[in-house]
Amino acid sequence: MKELLENAVDSVADDIRLFVQDAGKSLIQVIDNGKGMSETDARMAFERHATSKIRNIDDLFHIRTMGFRGEALASIAAVAQVELKTRRSEDETGTSIWIENSRVTRQEPVAAPAGTSIAMKNLFFNVPARRNFLKSNPAEMRHIVDEFTRVALAFPSIFFSLTANGTEVMHLEKGSLKQRIVQILGNPHASRLVSVQENTDYLNIYGFVGKPETAKKTRGDQYLFVNNRFIRSAYLNHAVMNAYTEMIPVESFPLYVLFIDLDPTQIDVNVHPTKQEIKFEDEKIVYAFVQAAVKHSLAQFSITPTLDFDLDPSIQRLDAVSKPVTEEKVAAVASSSLYKTFTQKNQAHFIEPTNKSELRHWKDFYEGPGTAGGAGTAAGAGGSAEHSPGRIQPIEGAPLQQLLNTYIVTPTNRSFILVHQQAAHERILYERYVAASTGKHIPSQKSMFPVTLTLSAPDALLLGELLPDLQPLGYAIEPFGKDSFIIQGSPGDTGQGDEKSMLENLLEQYKHFNSEVRFSRREKLIRTMARQKAVKPGTPLDEKEMRTLVDSLFACSQHNITPGGDPTYIEFKKDYVEKLFGR
Ligand SMILES: Nc1ncnc2c1ncn2[C@@H]1O[C@H](COP(=O)(O)OP(=O)(O)OP(=O)(O)O)[C@@H](O)[C@H]1O
Ligand SMILES: [Mg+2]
Repeated sequence: MKELLENAVDSVADDIRLFVQDAGKSLIQVIDNGKGMSETDARMAFERHATSKIRNIDDLFHIRTMGFRGEALASIAAVAQVELKTRRSEDETGTSIWIENSRVTRQEPVAAPAGTSIAMKNLFFNVPARRNFLKSNPAEMRHIVDEFTRVALAFPSIFFSLTANGTEVMHLEKGSLKQRIVQILGNPHASRLVSVQENTDYLNIYGFVGKPETAKKTRGDQYLFVNNRFIRSAYLNHAVMNAYTEMIPVESFPLYVLFIDLDPTQIDVNVHPTKQEIKFEDEKIVYAFVQAAVKHSLAQFSITPTLDFDLDPSIQRLDAVSKPVTEEKVAAVASSSLYKTFTQKNQAHFIEPTNKSELRHWKDFYEGPGTAGGAGTAAGAGGSAEHSPGRIQPIEGAPLQQLLNTYIVTPTNRSFILVHQQAAHERILYERYVAASTGKHIPSQKSMFPVTLTLSAPDALLLGELLPDLQPLGYAIEPFGKDSFIIQGSPGDTGQGDEKSMLENLLEQYKHFNSEVRFSRREKLIRTMARQKAVKPGTPLDEKEMRTLVDSLFACSQHNITPGGDPTYIEFKKDYVEKLFGR
């Protein structure tokens, strides 16, 4: 589908329509109004290494088109039944060709509109083993929407539409990049975009970045294009993220849609089969430019917050968000070391160690009953076996002390522990949700005023897919026309009124897990919800809340780690503490 769309883009069409049936399994068809093919070219197109896009060696180094290998149609012809109809505007009649198993089975002249239509039917009809690897329709459909979105974002001057099983699910009028972004990512973003535009001799950067308030807990709407090609680059992503340092909380992700244009000789697209990864001649320069350009835009547009109450409170509290940008701040940005590295060639790349490495350090101190061989190792929390009488248990009625509004310290039968309130709560919720979805459903509390939720098309598909799993968790949600849902009820235990942002947030976080093939949909949903609903660090807890938290944690079947494997508490045994004191 991606290849067909790219071919249509290369054909200089300004109207491209994608039709799919059964999430592409029975049909993927792309119709464009581009330049079409002659009869000979149409036959040639399916030959391997047949490309019209490279005519001489020089072209090879100046690729501006999406395609250049002459691979795509040949590959498609090998795995599906293909029907091509095409006509150049200068020809009176067009050509239609049927192909199966890489062979032309029929060819005839046809009356056809100028442009090209390629339909691939019954994907993998001749390779059943591969057909079995296709995912469920909703999952495959989401991939289709994702790819479609990327191409559509890169070419806002082309009209795009996507029709699935006879219903048009996306309809994107031609327009500016900003209009396209808003069409795709949703209206609320219109006022939250800051434009980026920086031209240099080496490269141009343009596009939009979200104000800090667009930052979400998971990487959602982050798009980077190089010469109009969507690419994945952890390295350049880091450059963008670096520009937001201190404006957004750690581990949150702002929206961005950025385009880098540079001389094709400076990049190598051919390092990845789907062209989603590329190699830069000088990666560090690009990094520095990207970071400086984003930083510049954020500073220049004096990012002041528009208070938005569905935001995570931890974002609201940040100085960078709660206080307007002042002259001093701009000056501070300009003199920051990161900004300066921009001017020092080859010095820009500095990747901070992630928080995870600190965590690993902590893990050395950590010992729980589930950690085989934990006792007596390295830092070992000091415990040799005889000092670990049985299962760890907090002492009933013992004092609980909250530290830094994040940890709870309390004695146990054999040590004292530092409980991470968020991690602990995540474990508790996780086990509760697992129980709910396998047996006793969480009761749903009917909303007095059912809320309607309108989502972008990809999000709507995703939510539709999750509905059956959300129901046992206490969500009564019904589809309500195109891309909309009615929230009839939510779990009794959450505060009423914020279901809408809670669900939007949930979808965002869920996407984070999407590539995780190890987990079922339900498992991913449950993990996401547990993480989302867990009490955040920085939240003061009263005595009763702390007590419930600690008791519920130790009532869990596995209390020492979060579902993701991080510790929920750290245990300090006497031996170990003594050792620290040199005793
Ligand atoms: N929609 C289209 N309109 C006009 N010509 C097309 C279209 N699709 C394919 N072609 C022609 O068929 C050729 C083969 O397409 P194919 O996608 O296999 O190769 P490519 O686009 O040149 O390179 P790549 O394999 O990298 O995509 C193209 O070079 C082009 O000449
Ligand atoms: Mg192609």
